[in-house]
Amino acid sequence: MNPKESIALLKGYKTNEAQFEIRLDANESKNFLFPEGISNLDIEINLYPDNQATALRTEIGKYIGVNPEMIIEGNGSSELLELLVKTYVDKNEVILSFEPSFSMYPIYSQIYSTSYIAVPSNKDFSLNLDLMIEYAKKYNPKLIFICTPNNPTGYLIPKEEIIKLLNQTNALVAVDEAYMEFTNGLSSMIDQIQEYPNLVVLRTMSKAFGLAGIRLGYLLGNQNIIETLNKVKSPYHLNSLSQSVGVLALKKVDLVKENVLTIQKRRQLLELELSNLGFTIYPSSGNFLFIQSAIQNFDKLLMNKGILIRGFLGDLKSYYRITVGTKEENEILVKRIEEIIHENINNH
Ligand SMILES: Cc1ncc(COP(=O)(O)O)c(C=O)c1O
Repeated sequence: MNPKESIALLKGYKTNEAQFEIRLDANESKNFLFPEGISNLDIEINLYPDNQATALRTEIGKYIGVNPEMIIEGNGSSELLELLVKTYVDKNEVILSFEPSFSMYPIYSQIYSTSYIAVPSNKDFSLNLDLMIEYAKKYNPKLIFICTPNNPTGYLIPKEEIIKLLNQTNALVAVDEAYMEFTNGLSSMIDQIQEYPNLVVLRTMSKAFGLAGIRLGYLLGNQNIIETLNKVKSPYHLNSLSQSVGVLALKKVDLVKENVLTIQKRRQLLELELSNLGFTIYPSSGNFLFIQSAIQNFDKLLMNKGILIRGFLGDLKSYYRITVGTKEENEILVKRIEEIIHENINNH
């Protein structure tokens, strides 16, 4: 059976399921919220979950400081990224984003036969919003994806620049803030939602909350957009277990803030150590570092030593993204990299 035309050539998102001693490839956090596990969840598993996730949205509203009516929950923020494309972009209409950025944007675009156009980054991987505005004027996009801090580079876009873009486009601007908790938060666009009816912001509990396994994300936007997205989403899309764990987690936001501070300190130390080892490091506002290495197949060499990081293809062949791990993981990482450097010198 042949799939529809847009799927025939689709290269799906690659995940790595192999066992590794240390995994620093997917920007997850450790399980710091529920180290003892979770028991006695008060849910009725025989019944469908709350279709509106009311308790969860109430807690998210308190955490973020917005009205729960301006929130829609998702099965990971991935589901909400797809929901935006599905709801707002017709076949052959344009989606604009930057390159490099989160790899799911072009994948969802392709699935729905939209036209994906990527604005190139500057040489240092900073993002040029003036160029994005030029592209927006030229290509008249229906939807613009902006990832800040950007995955995979860690670049944080100054807020004024996104506001400037919003003032010059009628496109729906979706700001993906999956990693915003790892910055000081001042660059978040959430407080602009009331100002701009064409702005939505996406967040996830997969990163700073350490809950990637429960697949929980959310989108903030004006009520009109939330109502529209609610019409399109599948019924009961977010299961009761994830809703309940999300509520419990949002009662522990102090621990999340502590975790973020710890990761920021570790990121700073790892950055220093890797730059002392000769890598080029790009300033990152996420829980990961984006680096360039002169060592060929650096990721494969680390894999052989039990550590998984994220490598790239094409123009980004010598670049790598490394999640900031625990203190011990980072120490082992640095030690194994030192070994690789020595082996590399001895082989030449
Ligand atoms: C920028 C960005 N957006 C969205 C996601 C998806 O997150 P999730 O579906 O786990 O909420 C990720 C995951 O890596 C990401 O890096």
